[in-house]
Amino acid sequence: MTMLRARVSDHLLRAARYQRHRDRFGWRPLFQLAALADPANGEAARELRRSVPVPRADGLPAALRFMAIGTTGTCNASCIHCPTGKAETAHVPRGEMPMELFRKLIDGIAEAGLTVTDQISFGLFGDGLVDRQVIERARYLKERLPEVQLSVNTNGAAYAPRHAELAGLVDVVGLHCESLVEETYNLLMQPLRLARVKPKLEAILRDFPGKVHVSVPVSRRNLGELEAIRAWFMERGAQCVVFDPLSNRCAEDQTLFDSLALAPAPVRCGPDITNDLIVDCDGLVLACCQDFRRLEPVGNLLHESVADTLRSASRAALNAVLAEGRHCEKTTCGGCRGDMRTPDFPFDQLAAA
Ligand SMILES: C[S@@+](CC[C@H](N)C(=O)[O-])C[C@H]1O[C@@H](n2cnc3c(N)ncnc32)[C@H](O)[C@@H]1O
Ligand code: SF4
Repeated sequence: MTMLRARVSDHLLRAARYQRHRDRFGWRPLFQLAALADPANGEAARELRRSVPVPRADGLPAALRFMAIGTTGTCNASCIHCPTGKAETAHVPRGEMPMELFRKLIDGIAEAGLTVTDQISFGLFGDGLVDRQVIERARYLKERLPEVQLSVNTNGAAYAPRHAELAGLVDVVGLHCESLVEETYNLLMQPLRLARVKPKLEAILRDFPGKVHVSVPVSRRNLGELEAIRAWFMERGAQCVVFDPLSNRCAEDQTLFDSLALAPAPVRCGPDITNDLIVDCDGLVLACCQDFRRLEPVGNLLHESVADTLRSASRAALNAVLAEGRHCEKTTCGGCRGDMRTPDFPFDQLAAA
């Protein structure tokens, strides 16, 4: 019975997310049904909380949805479809976020009485485990915001024995892996080498049982091995393996993206993204975590407080642009393309094709 409830709830949750993604009527009741079907489904409860915002008198949102922190701008990989490490992002800072700035950010959230309903992620345009202060940051965040789900996003290559200490601090390790076939992995996630990284993936799965969320950006290169990738990680105790639609990450030249993506279309986010807080390693606040070239800043934490950046005129202006469907007025939004997340992506799309 419990298993059945969990499966029904999960199904409803996926349908609700799809309806919301397509901006279709009925997604809120679907979230409610998912939470009712299985009260132990934490994801459904979280989605429900974030779908019923309660406005505050001080102009701040009731809660933030998602926060991504560029704890470091450096990555040890340069995946072929990722703007990190390419000429078009040569101007982007590659250092670590100073601890003082990091504390200002976390303290600002705590002091404003805000929570984050989805999660806080370490790792934006760089890799969460390349950051030398990742343990200290995780400890600080958990002291100040104990109820918030913390994820460290990484390709796993920098994993070292000392990182095992994170097991008591993080809720999720967002582990990015695009293939378990040497030739494909070495091509997509270059200059990483699968032979060297695989033992690290195994060590992470061993040290973080039930906490590893595997992210597999789907491309024409790995389409044939998706089930095998899922089976390999699940057999070793991963919590889930998610097939993520490929995004062009607002890149200037889309030739490579077009050769890898399945059936990309313009992505048109709604104004709810202004409830996300994206802060890069130097304090620059961005509208979107896909803005790898940092073309649309909406604040700077070096010069303003967290509350001020959340109430800023530029954030409000962006909200209006997205609400009115004027995406083309923004360089990043106008050029944003990607494959679409459907309930059983990509298998439902492949079956329909
Ligand atoms: C940009 S990475 C940054 C953090 C870390 N370096 C990593 O690889 O996980 C964050 C997430 O984006 C996903 N990702 C990478 N390239 C992508 C793309 N072109 N489209 C969609 N998702 C992508 C990865 O799987 C990962 O979960
Ligand atoms: S996708 Fe992640 S691992 Fe790959 S280059 Fe970009 S930041 Fe690094």
